[in-house]
Amino acid sequence: MTERYAVIGHPVAHSQSPDLHARFAQATGEDIEYGRIEAPLDAFERTVDEFRAGGGRGLNVTLPFKHAAFRYCDEVAERAREARVVNTLVFGERTRGDNTDGVGLVRDIEGNLTVTLGGKTVLLMGAGGAAQGVVGALLGARVGRLVVANRTFAKADALATRFKVTAARFDDVREPFDIVINATSAGLGTEPAVFPTAAIGKATLAYDMVYARDTAFLRMARDKGARCADGLGMLVEQAAESFFIWRGVRPQTRSVLASLRGG
Ligand code: ATR
Repeated sequence: MTERYAVIGHPVAHSQSPDLHARFAQATGEDIEYGRIEAPLDAFERTVDEFRAGGGRGLNVTLPFKHAAFRYCDEVAERAREARVVNTLVFGERTRGDNTDGVGLVRDIEGNLTVTLGGKTVLLMGAGGAAQGVVGALLGARVGRLVVANRTFAKADALATRFKVTAARFDDVREPFDIVINATSAGLGTEPAVFPTAAIGKATLAYDMVYARDTAFLRMARDKGARCADGLGMLVEQAAESFFIWRGVRPQTRSVLASLRGG
């Protein structure tokens, strides 16, 4: 019997997850259907309840509901407990939450971009849900030094304290890092994008977790001669990990990523 999954968010029309999971299902022969659900901003729980009651087996959760998804769960995987945000829900007798964003980021950087994280200096910009979701995985990949910087320092400080790493103000960042990861939404709204530009040198890998857009961060990094990467690979890798959690089958990601990039 076809089992039902979906991505839930607001907005969600732009989400590439249905396309990715359809490709994974076809490649692995898994009999699933994967849709898109736009939940009203004030009705995440009710919308999830309805999907579950209708026989839905799992959900991917995107903005702005990753914190609400964490609260919704009866139990959570260790990496989600650490992150306090959930992007994957599994429905059984109980609802189990997981977070595949961190492992998705690490697999993209190490597997697809072939950049080793071990021993590297890493600056993570941002302290919202996107940043929270990846700190544990970066530490798990044994980065040499992890600094969390954020426009609002108090939020960087709180996140860094939780994970026992260093917090910085943007103004305090004065030298290049091996890897700079943009987990902010800077430049996507109407406010001007603020970044610590000194963090980027010619040898830096500048990684933006946003995908399918040329962001202010990537433009700045490109002007400085840095190697640049968007978050498309992370998107594919986190989706593959969710698929694995649900179905017990690990889809290949390389050909999917190549085809999305038009290769
Ligand atoms: P998400 O779940 O995507 O992380 P969020 O929790 O709203 O969303 O966090 C957005 C992040 O982008 C925050 O780190 C925010 O910085 P503040 O804590 O100072 O608000 C950052 N951000 C948003 N707009 C920004 C801008 N124009 N310049 C720099 N940082 C920005």
